[in-house]
Amino acid sequence: MKVRFLNLSVTDPDERKAFHQALDNILDHGLLVIGPEVERFEESISRYTSSPYAIGVGSGSDAIFLALKALGINVGDEVITSCMSFVATANAISLTGAKPVFADLGEDLNIDPDSIRSLITPKTKAIIPVHYGGLMADMAEIQKIADEFKLQVVEDASQAFGATAGGRYAGTLGDIGAISLNPMKILAGMGEAGIVLTANETLRLKLETLRYNGLEDRKLCRWPSTNARLDTLQAAFLQYRLEQVNDLIQKRREIASYYRQSFGHLVSCPKDIEERKHVYYTFNILTEHRDALLAHLTQNDIESKVYHPIISHEPAYKQAECRTTNANKLFAKKLAIPCHEKLSDNEVQFVVDTILQFFENHE
Ligand SMILES: Cc1ncc(COP(=O)(O)O)c(C=O)c1O
Repeated sequence: MKVRFLNLSVTDPDERKAFHQALDNILDHGLLVIGPEVERFEESISRYTSSPYAIGVGSGSDAIFLALKALGINVGDEVITSCMSFVATANAISLTGAKPVFADLGEDLNIDPDSIRSLITPKTKAIIPVHYGGLMADMAEIQKIADEFKLQVVEDASQAFGATAGGRYAGTLGDIGAISLNPMKILAGMGEAGIVLTANETLRLKLETLRYNGLEDRKLCRWPSTNARLDTLQAAFLQYRLEQVNDLIQKRREIASYYRQSFGHLVSCPKDIEERKHVYYTFNILTEHRDALLAHLTQNDIESKVYHPIISHEPAYKQAECRTTNANKLFAKKLAIPCHEKLSDNEVQFVVDTILQFFENHE
């Protein structure tokens, strides 16, 4: 049996039918750019997350970049973010001309608020917490720091669509929320896509302008920007998937709970915190035996991954200001194992048995 880390093929016949129908509708109406499907999807996201505004964009990378542009982040500014994320978070900061500053992690793999405090300088303008692996960062503490130092907050909720903190959805607690909807994500397009959330009407108008080359009413260029509009076909696919997303999250939560119950005494598993509901974009275990376990899983045809790297270790960010002491320790123990809605019960059981078998010799 081969257990895949992710399976992006579309196997559900109802889903395939809905996608073909969506394509047919678009071929019929011919409104290919910002067609009615985009507005409908934005409204649906707005309802789902209770965010007053949702603006469809081309990708999660675009979402973060446009969020920072909308907040006026510029050359000479500093933006503090988590040292562990997909590199797109840092790249978006760099592309504004600002300097990314990398904060250390807490035990939950999220940005450590104390580390943020220690990195604030007069140039600091914003914080980007990344809700890592599907669990929200400590937004209450981060907002406290932001209020104290008058900083803006952009949540990178790319890995946490549907996660909540105190009942509020990821992406709706900061000034702006940026979410990737690429094919690997919890709410997944069939190609590149993203969404930006905000409760501020001025920011919403600015974001809508920025996503199309800074053009107001598609005429007057107000700010230099790029073309980062959500594709109409992706909006239609995503609309269908949004209707299924709660079931998908539930399935992941059930697998996570079974994993915790089966081998939570042998490795550190993501915690099930009532106040911060996880969506298990990745199920990251921590173990001193990481490399040997990875080899054992690979031998048994179970795909698992050591990612994401610490960004300040990337060649592009070697010179960056950073605190990574705890992150280095956590990274050495971290392994993401398969935890997705397409896993069969047999596959889940095989993952459990294989891990238990490994620990018979590695207590
Ligand atoms: C935390 C995080 N931020 C940003 C991105 C970038 O999103 P996209 O691939 O849609 O540009 C990703 C996606 O991989 C991500 O995981």
